[in-house]
Amino acid sequence: MSQTPAAETAIEPLTPQALRAALGRFATGVTIITCRDAGGQPVGLTANSFASLSLDPPLVLWSLRRASSNLAAFEAARHFAINVLAETQVDLSRRFAASKGDKFADGPWADGLGDCPVLAGCSAVFECETEARHEVGDHVLFIGRVLRLADLPVAPLLFQGGHYRMVGEVL
Ligand SMILES: Cc1cc2nc3c(=O)[nH]c(=O)nc-3n(C[C@H](O)[C@H](O)[C@H](O)COP(=O)(O)O)c2cc1C
Repeated sequence: MSQTPAAETAIEPLTPQALRAALGRFATGVTIITCRDAGGQPVGLTANSFASLSLDPPLVLWSLRRASSNLAAFEAARHFAINVLAETQVDLSRRFAASKGDKFADGPWADGLGDCPVLAGCSAVFECETEARHEVGDHVLFIGRVLRLADLPVAPLLFQGGHYRMVGEVL
């Protein structure tokens, strides 16, 4: 019996590196997800695990590494804001993907719902109330109910194959 194409090209063993590389084929946008920690300090990180979940009710999801230094803040926060980055915001993406440094030092940003930082110049913003949280594997899945959104005519930043990219041809 002949193997399916998937079996012939399967990468074995299924290592975390192989999984990461194959997942990298999937093109995503780039977001910075923000909240306030228990002490009122702004918190945020670059994330591309964001996805739509439901239109009615309006729900979105994203996942946070359990080992992340940001976990306690997002677990305690009632709200978070998903800032969908514009193609001009690669520097911001890099800054919020780092563990060190004052991420919010040179804005511009403003307080949104629940005082979550809303960054200026984004392509879209989804201000959410935490609807549910699930520990799954080595991540925590956050589901947010969208309470307010902004949708601006600004080209979004893309991430694919480990590289930042810009939107290309319409097919
Ligand atoms: C393009 C991109 C997407 C990322 N997506 C996620 C994500 O969805 N979830 C996550 O936990 N970390 C993600 N990260 C990593 C976090 O941004 C990074 O671990 C965090 O800012 C560093 O803080 P830490 O001290 O919590 O590790 C991503 C990084 C990049 C560059």
